[in-house]
Amino acid sequence: MKICMIGAGYVGLVSAACFSEFGWEVTCVDKDKNRLAMMKAGKSPIYEPGLDDLISRNMKAGRLLFSDELGPAVSQADVVFLAVGTPMRRGDGHADLSYVYQAVEELAPHLNGFTVITTKSTVPVGTSREIERRLRDKNPKADFGVCSNPEFLREGSAIGDFSHPDRVLVGLDDERAREVMARLYQPLSLRNAPVIFVSRESAELAKYAANAFLALKISFINEISDLCEHVGADVQEVANAIGKDRRIGDKFLHPGPGYGGSCFPKDVSAIVRTAREAKSPLSLIEQVSTVNDERKLAMSGRIEAACGGSVRGKKIAILGVTFKPNTDDMRDAPSLVIVPMLQERGASVRVYDPEGRKQAEPMLPGVLWCEGSLAACEGADALVVLTEWNEFRALNLSAVRERMTGNILVDLRNVFTPNAALEAGFYYVGVGKPVVARS
Ligand code: UDX
Repeated sequence: MKICMIGAGYVGLVSAACFSEFGWEVTCVDKDKNRLAMMKAGKSPIYEPGLDDLISRNMKAGRLLFSDELGPAVSQADVVFLAVGTPMRRGDGHADLSYVYQAVEELAPHLNGFTVITTKSTVPVGTSREIERRLRDKNPKADFGVCSNPEFLREGSAIGDFSHPDRVLVGLDDERAREVMARLYQPLSLRNAPVIFVSRESAELAKYAANAFLALKISFINEISDLCEHVGADVQEVANAIGKDRRIGDKFLHPGPGYGGSCFPKDVSAIVRTAREAKSPLSLIEQVSTVNDERKLAMSGRIEAACGGSVRGKKIAILGVTFKPNTDDMRDAPSLVIVPMLQERGASVRVYDPEGRKQAEPMLPGVLWCEGSLAACEGADALVVLTEWNEFRALNLSAVRERMTGNILVDLRNVFTPNAALEAGFYYVGVGKPVVARS
C-alpha cells in the first residue's frame, strides 16, 4: 500500500518509519526544510531510541521517502495520514486545529481514486466529520472516506509502542475505508494486536479519555504519596500492593514532580473544554490539572525546606530536566517551573541532562550546564533528581557526596533508596518515603 504521512513530528515520523518497516511505501511530507534535510540524510530530528536506524534502513530499501511536495504524495496514496501538530490554543485551552485544516485544504485537490484520509493527531470529538465536510466542499468529485486512528505512543518507547500496541483503534463509518485500514494494519493483526473498529466520535473521545485517565492515575499516586509521608507509609509499597489488582494495574503509579510532555497537559485541558461545552463537565479531570500544577510548586517548596527553609545563596545541582527519561522533549517539563522558582528564591542552579541540553538551554536561562552528574554536583549544597534517567541509578553516592559541599539529596523520582543515601552521608528526601537523616 502507498501511504502519505503529513507531518514529521513525534507521531508522524515514528508512524511513517514503522509503516515502511511493515513493507508499505511511505512518503512523509513536512514543510520544515531543516527537518526535511536531516531526514533525507537519514537522521531523525528528534531523539527517539532506534528511530535513526529505522529511518535509514527503510530509506535504503526505497520504502520511505521525505518530501515537501504534498500533491504527488497524496495523489498516489491509498491512505493519507494527518499527523500535524494540534497544540493547546493559547488562552482557551482548546486544541489548535489550524494545521489540520490547512493540510486538508492543501490535500483536497490532489485526491485521486478512493483514498482514506485518517487523523493520527489527537483531535477533538467531531473533527473527522468536519474534515469530511471541508473535503466535500473543496473537492465535490473526490472519492474518499475520513477516519480517526489515534496513536498511543509514549515518547522514549514509541517504536515499541507502535510495533506492539495494546490495540489499534480505528474510528470510521465507511465499509471501503474499513477494508483499507484492516489491510494497512494486517502486519499487526497477524501479531495478534487487536484492531478495534468503532465510530469516529468514539475513537476521537477514547484518545482523550485514555490520556485523561492516565493523568488522573498520576495525580492520584502523587496525592497518595503525600499522604504516605504524613502517616509513615511507603508509597512504593502501597503502589505495589494496589497495582497487583489487575483492575488497577501496576503501571503509572510512580509519584514524581508532576506530569509533563506534549500530550497530557494539552489533552486534559482539551477534554475538560469539550465536556464543559457539551454541558457534561468532567469534575474529576478538572481537578487533575489543578493537582498537577500545584505539585510542581509544592516540589520547589520541598527543596527549600530540605535546604533548611531557604535556598538563597545555595548551589543546587539538578539531575534531569526533560519531562521524562529517554527523550529530549522539554514541553511542559516540571523543571520549567521548579528551576526558575529556585533561581527566583536566590539559588544558583547547575544542571546535567543526558539528552535535554539542546532543547532546554534556551528555556532555562541563567543555569550552569554541566557535562555529567559528578560535574554538576561539584561544590553543590544540594542535589535534586527531577528526571529518572537510568544512568542516575548507577551513580556512586559516596563519590557524589565527596564532591558536594552540602549533604542534601532531594530525590523527586525515588531513584535512590533512603538507606543507600543515608550510608553515603546524605540528608535524604524522597517522595512518599519517610524522611531519613543522619541521626
Ligand atoms: C503519553 C501517553 O502515555 C501516550 O499513550 C500518549 O500517546 C502520549 O502521551 P508521553 O507523554 O510520551 O505519553 O509519556 P508518558 O510516559 O505517558 O509520561 C507522561 C508524563 O507522566 C511524564 O512527565 C512522566 O514523568 C509522568 N509519569 C508517568 C509519572 O509521573 N508517573 C508515572 O508513573 C508515569
